[in-house]
Order: sequence, then structure tokens, then C-alpha cells
Amino acid sequence: MQNQKGFNDIPLFFHENYISIENPNYSSQYHNTIIMHDCEHPIMEEHAKICTKNGGDILEVGFGMGIVASYIQKHKIKSHTIIESHPQIADKAREWALNKPNVKIIEDTWQNAYDKGKLKTYDGIMFDPSDFSKAEEILFINPKIPITKPGCILTYYNGLIFDQIMQGYKINENPENLKIPGTRYYPFKWKQNTLFHTLHQGEIYWMSEKIF
Ligand SMILES: C[S@@+](CC[C@H](N)C(=O)[O-])C[C@H]1O[C@@H](n2cnc3c(N)ncnc32)[C@H](O)[C@@H]1O
Repeated sequence: MQNQKGFNDIPLFFHENYISIENPNYSSQYHNTIIMHDCEHPIMEEHAKICTKNGGDILEVGFGMGIVASYIQKHKIKSHTIIESHPQIADKAREWALNKPNVKIIEDTWQNAYDKGKLKTYDGIMFDPSDFSKAEEILFINPKIPITKPGCILTYYNGLIFDQIMQGYKINENPENLKIPGTRYYPFKWKQNTLFHTLHQGEIYWMSEKIF
């Protein structure tokens, strides 16, 4: 994905099954403008199970199509805070949240949200902003940053994208994108009927879980 400042200024296009950063007037499965696609439902359902295991207060980073958000809502939780930086997607998130009293939308980047003191402490975190710029070191690995309650469970998107395959990563092997120390990874089998540069490749997705 683009650097953050640029990305939030780019107009997005909302299609029936996906969101893209331009209106691709062609059906190629190889274009790299897809931000989120609903083929990722099974993965998101599993991420939601992980980050809600403790119940309590859940933080979600990156609303996208609201897929994981809707799965999170099916679990017994107290509150659900969602940080979303893109204005168009933040609008969608607010609309989605209208009848959900335990949801709070923060329109910002996760980096700013933390710096401005908008975050509290959480029992579970789902991190999927597609912006892996030092997130792990800044927000989640550094124990001095107090957003995790004891026992908080973090899960994050760990997809292998086409560009990584070009760099020598192997399909169905764990790319460990963020390489967060102390994270357990387990293989999650799913059937993907689409193939896009920017979405997970292969039938094995390495699900991530870190307990603080
Ligand atoms: C892959 S999508 C998330 C998909 C989501 N998990 C779902 O189930 O639909 C990534 C989202 O993160 C947002 N995003 C990107 N960088 C961000 C940042 N630094 N802070 C907050 N949100 C960000 C994007 O606008 C986009 O909505």
C-alpha cells in the first residue's frame, strides 16, 4: 500500500466484492489496486475468534469492508474500538456502527491515534491496516506502550502477497510479515478462488496470535 499521507488522499472505489484504489475497467486478477476483497471472509472470521477470546474491550485497526468487524460483533464483547484512516472508509464505518452502541470509530491513522492519547487498554486487538510500517515495534512489541491489558490477545493480518513471492517467499510457507516475537502461528486452510497481487496467496494462511 502507499505511504500513509498519500493513501488517505486517494479516492477509493467501492465494488460489490471489493474496494480498490482506482476503478479497474478490466477483469484481470493480477492488478494490484485491491485494498480488500470479500474472498477473505474465512480468514477474517478466524481472526475475529482469536481477538475476542477474552471478551472485554477490543481494538480493531483498519475497517476495510467491515468484514472482521461484523464477525467481532458476533462475539460476546464489551466494547469495540475501530481506527480507520481513510475518510471514505471511515464514513462507511460510521454508517455500519449506527445501530451498534458498543462501537467507537476513530478516524485517524493508528499512529496518530496513539500519539494523541485516543487509545485505552484492550483485551484483544485485530491489526489489519495493510500498513506495516514499523507497527510492530512502535505499537505492539514495545512493552512501554500501554495499550494491552495483561493477557491481551493480538492477531494481525499475515498474508503472503505476490510481490513477496517474487522476492523468494514460498507459497504456503509462513511469511511472518511482522515477525512479532512471542507470536504463535498456525496454518489455516482456506479455499481462495481469486488471485490478486495484494491479497494472500496460497491455500495455507498462517494465523497469528500473540498473548501479552
Ligand atoms: C485490508 S483493509 C482491512 C480489512 C478489514 N480487516 C476487513 O475485514 O474488511 C485495510 C484498512 O486499513 C486502513 N488503514 C490503512 N492504513 C491505516 C493506518 N495507518 N491507520 C488506520 N487505518 C489504516 C485502510 O484504509 C483500510 O480500510
